[in-house]
Amino acid sequence: MDEKARTESRDKKGTVIIGISGASGVIYGIRTIKILNELGYHTEVILSKEAKKVAKVECGIDLESFFNGLNSVVYEEDQIEAPPSSSSHIVETEGMVIVPCSIKTLAEIANGIASNLLSRSALNFLRVRKTLILVIRETPLGTIELINALKVSRAGGIIMPASPGFYHNPQNINDLINFIVGKILDLLKIPNSLYKHWNSVTVNRIPCDQIS
Ligand SMILES: Cc1cc2nc3c(=O)[nH]c(=O)nc-3n(C[C@H](O)[C@H](O)[C@H](O)COP(=O)(O)O)c2cc1C
Repeated sequence: MDEKARTESRDKKGTVIIGISGASGVIYGIRTIKILNELGYHTEVILSKEAKKVAKVECGIDLESFFNGLNSVVYEEDQIEAPPSSSSHIVETEGMVIVPCSIKTLAEIANGIASNLLSRSALNFLRVRKTLILVIRETPLGTIELINALKVSRAGGIIMPASPGFYHNPQNINDLINFIVGKILDLLKIPNSLYKHWNSVTVNRIPCDQIS
């Protein structure tokens, strides 16, 4: 997308910063960016080095080339001079989501360690008290991870475990992914119908007797 189109889109719906770290579930980040693009949002994407490795293992893709043609600007974690490094830039955005968020990146943010663009940007969101959502993906969680999650929560961040529900009658993996992405959009206050919200779930329960 050229600069003019990008600016027009940004002016219309706003910008969301999406971080993808090297946790399992890179597909959650990819789908979030795709949907935001479809809804007319501009996205600034920060990729950790490990995210690219996990994308190859899990999705068989070269993560950077995935963004060709999307309304996104992509930064590497070592581009510490990039705009999301500055709090004056992030105050103009709708929020930041790290999806999936590794326990390493969680630990850095919880302890104020701005070692790369991903953790630096997230800490900026906490400093200026803007929406920061960490979609953590690890199980089980030990005491150290729980304490780190509590620290981020107390500092104003939102901890959203990547744990899809089953009350919305999922039929396949896509439905489970959309549940998580829909929840992220809910937290960003972006209307969506990616999953059936609880008040609209009425019929078609999972046929538990047919699951072995
Ligand atoms: C295939 C694969 C899957 C991984 N899954 C997870 C995971 O689910 N959660 C996690 O915290 N780390 C996971 N890791 C380990 C992280 O990639 C590693 O801790 C890395 O240092 C995280 O760095 P980053 O947060 O800068 O991306 C995984 C690594 C690989 C290779």
